[in-house]
Amino acid sequence: MHSDTFSLSQTYEKYFLIGAAISPYGLERNTALLKQHFSSVTCENHMKYSMVHPQRDVWKWDGADQIVAFAKENHKQIRLHAPVWHEQLPEWVVRDTDGFLQSRDHVLACIEEYIYNIGTRYGKDAYAWDVVNEAAADRIDDYNREKFGNIPYRNSDFFQACGIDYIAKAFHWAHKYAPNVQLILNDFNECDPYKRERICRLAQELLHRDVPLHGIGMQGHYNMDNPSFDELRRSIEAFAALGLRLQITEMDLDIYHNCELDLMPVINHVEQPIELTEELRARHNARYAALFGIFREYADVIDSVTTWGVADDWSWLQHPVMKNCPMLFSEAHEPKDCVLQMIREA
Ligand code: GLA
Repeated sequence: MHSDTFSLSQTYEKYFLIGAAISPYGLERNTALLKQHFSSVTCENHMKYSMVHPQRDVWKWDGADQIVAFAKENHKQIRLHAPVWHEQLPEWVVRDTDGFLQSRDHVLACIEEYIYNIGTRYGKDAYAWDVVNEAAADRIDDYNREKFGNIPYRNSDFFQACGIDYIAKAFHWAHKYAPNVQLILNDFNECDPYKRERICRLAQELLHRDVPLHGIGMQGHYNMDNPSFDELRRSIEAFAALGLRLQITEMDLDIYHNCELDLMPVINHVEQPIELTEELRARHNARYAALFGIFREYADVIDSVTTWGVADDWSWLQHPVMKNCPMLFSEAHEPKDCVLQMIREA
């Protein structure tokens, strides 16, 4: 099975890149799988603001440098990830020491400085960049939606300080400092019909303002029920209809529902551990393979499919009690049945 020619990414060359999000530790642990089955890498955390520039006078490049060096040595393509995100962001970017919102000028200057540093350091080596992450409002209840409309903007500190300009300017700066990179607006719950509409409205607004936006990142944090195949197709078609390229940027397949990314709000509800039976594993494999089947159908608009991790021994969805199996490769780093099926059907 592990001959040089048995490779997910080589088999999928004719469709799209196959990517993985990794940390420096993940790189060490998964070197063999990354070399054999993946053609693209994303820094899981090591290009985020709070990791690289946690304090005004501190810049930490080691982790990102290591991952980029691995990618270049091994001819993997590089995605840059999430300089502008309301999470994993140092407080001083958006709040002063008394907790008050910083000025628009301060916030925009921080965004430009950060994008300049990432763009000039890695832009020439990268093909894609999730420039702005999760800028669309997530859940809006029926009452508010009916009263105020399906307003697309997340009411983050960025938005409060700068309005939509923080998004527009971030893309302009990314284009200025990394002119050859495909620039992506990345978001989650992208197959929920109302969220899909909000992402489309936000993207349309940016395009209307001549913002250099090239693609939509569909994070792809899915579970065993959501999204339905129909809603997935509708989202792919709706985003592609804007004239944009698509990337699946953070895919995993959760066997639980009680995570913040679920489409249904779950309040005060803790799920019980689910036994990973053969039957459940078979359904999980079948769903992964079916989802990749849909991605293949839309390969003319999809440029890459990245999973948020490599193998089940590490994932942000793993929990010591509630064991999960979200990745394409097992804890023992063996390809799961879905990988064999995805290769067979390609
Ligand atoms: C979001 C972010 C990612 C990662 C995941 C899971 O989707 O975009 O960078 O942090 O959450 O942890």
